[in-house]
Amino acid sequence: MKFFVDTAEIDAIAELNDLGMVDGVTTNPSLILKSGRNILEVTKEICDLVDGPVSAEVVALEADAMIAEGRKLAEIADNITIKLPLTWDGLKACKVLSGEGHMINVTLCFSANQALIAAKAGATFISPFIGRLDDINLDGMDLIQDIRTIYDNYGFETQILAASIRSVNHILDAARIGADVMTAPPEVIKKLAAHPLTDKGLEQFMADWKKTGQNIL
Ligand code: E4P
Repeated sequence: MKFFVDTAEIDAIAELNDLGMVDGVTTNPSLILKSGRNILEVTKEICDLVDGPVSAEVVALEADAMIAEGRKLAEIADNITIKLPLTWDGLKACKVLSGEGHMINVTLCFSANQALIAAKAGATFISPFIGRLDDINLDGMDLIQDIRTIYDNYGFETQILAASIRSVNHILDAARIGADVMTAPPEVIKKLAAHPLTDKGLEQFMADWKKTGQNIL
């Protein structure tokens, strides 16, 4: 499973990237707002830092304007993935921009039928939003499973990018189902390393080591 980090905070991306944990980055207008940075400047910095795909989202709602914005974002760096919303206009823009050879992340996916049509329009990645479905008492993981089944049935190459991840269990469940990629905030990725029995075991080892009176260095 590829790990994308869902943030526009350079320091957080750099910390995870140094550990080899970053296969790509996703941003959106809300994350750009949170960073307080200019979209073109911060996206360029992220692209320079990370080898993998960096999603930058258009904000136009009409296909021609989305295409123009997508082309401008793609000029930032070779590893830009143009992020387009799952609307009819977004699909039109997906078809054109993917035809030009750009990577496309179709975002705000909430149904398997939306994922099917995005694959047919040439999406490189489809982003089903797990957490936002859970928020309205639907099961986001059922959607990941349905998309996996449909894409496998017909051999679609569009990669399933599990998004809106809120917990380590979301990552585990998406990995079990076979999502190709997950994108999560840095704090959720760091929580993957945590276990209370690790902390308890380490505490015991440290206490016993102190009693030996020994040093390694
Ligand atoms: C994905 O590309 C989105 O930026 C992100 O996962 C949305 O997550 P949220 O629902 O927690 O805002």
